Amino acid sequence: MSKIQKIKQKLKKLRSLKWRTGILFAVLLGMILLSIPKAIPQEPVVLNLLMTAPDAQPWKQGIVKDFEEKNPGIRINIVEGPNSTNLLEDLYTSAFILGDSPYDLVNMDVIWTPKFAAAGWLLDLSDRLTKTELAAFSPKDVEGGRYEGKLYRIPVRSDAGVFYYREDLLKGAGFKPPETFADVVKISKSLKEQQKVNWGYLWQGRQYEGSAAMFVEVLQGFGGFWVKPDTLEVGLDKPETVKAIAFLKDTIKEGISPPGVTTYIEEDTRRIFQSGQAAFLRSWPYVWPLANAQDSPLKGKIGIKPMVATPGNSGGGCLGGWGLGIAKLSKHPKEAWKAIQFFTSEEAQRQFILKAGFVPSRRSLFIDPQIVSKYPYYPELLKIADKAILRPSIAQYAQASDILQRYLSAALTNRMTPESAMQAAASETRQLLKAKG
Ligand code: GLC
Repeated sequence: MSKIQKIKQKLKKLRSLKWRTGILFAVLLGMILLSIPKAIPQEPVVLNLLMTAPDAQPWKQGIVKDFEEKNPGIRINIVEGPNSTNLLEDLYTSAFILGDSPYDLVNMDVIWTPKFAAAGWLLDLSDRLTKTELAAFSPKDVEGGRYEGKLYRIPVRSDAGVFYYREDLLKGAGFKPPETFADVVKISKSLKEQQKVNWGYLWQGRQYEGSAAMFVEVLQGFGGFWVKPDTLEVGLDKPETVKAIAFLKDTIKEGISPPGVTTYIEEDTRRIFQSGQAAFLRSWPYVWPLANAQDSPLKGKIGIKPMVATPGNSGGGCLGGWGLGIAKLSKHPKEAWKAIQFFTSEEAQRQFILKAGFVPSRRSLFIDPQIVSKYPYYPELLKIADKAILRPSIAQYAQASDILQRYLSAALTNRMTPESAMQAAASETRQLLKAKG
C-alpha cells in the first residue's frame, strides 16, 4: 500500500469513527433531553381546610368552585371533619401540637381564637384590613377574632341560636307562638294530646359544646349568667341556674322532650324536627333552608323567633359563628390570605348565604334584596344577632366550657342533683379563673 493509500484509509476510519461518535452523542443527548421533565404547567397550590361535615357541603357546592375558577393556581381541599365543634377543635389542636400542621386555613368557631392565638398557632392578621373594611362586619364577630388586641380570625359567617316552631300546627290548634318556657310546655302537651306530634321541644343535651351554647340561652331566659367576662364573676351556683336545669329536666320527665335528648347534637334534633315529629326546636339558622327544601315534609310550615324566656326576662340566642385564620406553619400564607379575602368578600358571602341560610357576618347582607327575598326573616335575625349572648370570651374558655358540660350532663342525666352539680361546677370554674386569671 502506498503511503497516500494508507493516509486515505486512516482518514476513512477516522471519519466513520466521527460518525459513530456523532451518532452516540446525538443518542445520549436525546436521552438526556427526554429525561428532563417537559415544561410541566405549574402544579396548583393546595390549601387544606378542615370543617364540620354539615358546613362542608355548602362550601364545596358554592364558594370553593367560584374561588378556584377565579384562581386557577390555587385549589381548596375541604377536609370533612366530625359534626360537633369540639371534636373539630380537638383535631386542629392535635395537629398543631404535633407541630406540622396539615392545615393552611383554620376554620374557627367564635370561641376558639383566644386559645389558638395564645398557643401561637395562628398568623397575626391585624394589619391586613383597614378599620373601614373591618367596620363592615358585625362588631361581635370581629371581637371574637381578637386576642390581646390582635386580630387572628376574619368572620365568614355569624350564627345565633333561634327558636323554631310549627306554624301550621300552632295555627291549626289556635295557639300563638310561645313567649315563655311555660307556653312551650303548655302547647307541647296540648299538641301531643291531640296526637299532632310525638314530641314538644327538641334541644341539644349531649356533653359537648352545643350543650353549653343551648344552656346559656335557657340561663339568660331565667335571668342567670355563666361567667361575667369583665369581673370573672361566676353565676353557676345561683338559684337561676338551678331553675334553668329544672326546666330542661322537666321537659324530659313530662315527655315533652325525648329521653334521648341528653345525647343529641344539632343534627340529631334537626332530623327529628324535619321529619315532622316535634313542635319546637332550639337550633341555629342553618336548619331553615334544609327544613324548607323541596323534599322536606316541613316546607312552608315553620316559623322562627328569638328564644323564649320567663316573664320579665328577655330571651336571647347564643352568639355563634365561624371565621378563617391562617396556620402559622402553613407553607402558603400568601395564597391562604387570597382565599380569606375571597371567602369573606360581600359577593362570596351572598352566594354562601343564599345556598346555606347561614347568618351573615357582613351587616349589609341582612337587608340585601336578594337575600331578603329568599329569607324574609333576615332583618329580624339581625336584631337577634345584635342581642346575641356571648359565651365568656376568656382564654380559659375551653376548660370553663368543659366544666359546665360535664356537670350539666351529670345533672340532666340524674347522676347528680342540679344543686350539687352546679356547686361543683361553680367552684371548679372559680379555681380555674383564679389559677390562670
Ligand atoms: C354552631 C355555632 C358555634 C357553636 C356550635 C355548637 O356551629 O356556630 O359557634 O359553638 O354550633 O355546637
